[in-house]
Amino acid sequence: MKVLVTYRSLPGTGLVERLSRQFDVRVYEGDGYMSREDLLRAVADIDGLVSMLSERIDAELLDRAPVLKVVCNYAVGFNNVEVEAATARGIMITNTPGVVTDATADLAWAVLMGIARDVCRVDRFVRSGEWKEWRPEMFVAADITGTTLGIIGLGRIGQAMAKRAAGFDMRVLYADVSRADADVEQRSCAEYAPLDELLRESDFVTIHVPLNSSTHHLIDASALSLMKPTAYLVNTARGPIVDEHALVDALRCGRIAGAALDVYENEPQLADGLVELPNVILIPHLGANSRRTRDRMAAMTADNMIAALNGEVPPNLVNPQVVPHRRPLRVA
Ligand code: GLV
Ligand code: GLV
Repeated sequence: MKVLVTYRSLPGTGLVERLSRQFDVRVYEGDGYMSREDLLRAVADIDGLVSMLSERIDAELLDRAPVLKVVCNYAVGFNNVEVEAATARGIMITNTPGVVTDATADLAWAVLMGIARDVCRVDRFVRSGEWKEWRPEMFVAADITGTTLGIIGLGRIGQAMAKRAAGFDMRVLYADVSRADADVEQRSCAEYAPLDELLRESDFVTIHVPLNSSTHHLIDASALSLMKPTAYLVNTARGPIVDEHALVDALRCGRIAGAALDVYENEPQLADGLVELPNVILIPHLGANSRRTRDRMAAMTADNMIAALNGEVPPNLVNPQVVPHRRPLRVA
């Protein structure tokens, strides 16, 4: 079986070595990503594809891959994959859930604290040599401890945020498509709230839902207008969940106090005006980039590929409707 790995410099590695023991593995040797054209050509005879979150795996690509059986996305998010199109063609899709949870929550927490206490702006102030003497009124910042955290999406990462919030004596509200199980609520010390109420009451709003058609622009101008003028928005999920132009407007007019963003609507492009704003922290989609997490993502991606191409159900199958091509799925 032939496997294509579209990206050469995966940190952590072990992935290509493990896959090579069983499969004919081709690794794109260019620096960076394959062009769309090269990718479309390269999938013509492959059985398994290891894809990156910035690569669009859509019907056009799948149609160019007549023997493709599985796409193992090196990410927990799989909004870059047209899952329905894959399912319709009997192609399995896998992701890397669980292993990115703590690293993503750690980073969300870091930028939440960073924006509240103005860490990046203050760092620039010191570096620039503007700091002449200590003054008590310099950069008076927001409180974190004892405030209210609003978590949109109480999945794995949302719950990890709630756990961290407990250490800061925060009240935790959460909104989601449905109410979480009672034991999850209890463990998270989180109160369910309709999104409007969460936006009105929170000092920090942090987003942890997947991107799909129902979460696209979930945070738009009207949602932002409900937030307190002293509140901060944190997005480490996916950019298009927030209307970035509306966010720039809200930040510019002081409708909210600030934002910390790890993800953008059109990466790596930023909405006009975003970089000029003083009240934002901007980082380049690094939620899952801790060393341990990258290692585990590579291992999980390999596990998924090996299972799928051996006719087993991969551990992190996103579309269980697809019957693995060799052995039928056992009915539970
Ligand atoms: C990172 O964004 C991921 O989805 O794993
Ligand atoms: C969302 O991506 C989650 O892991 O809960």
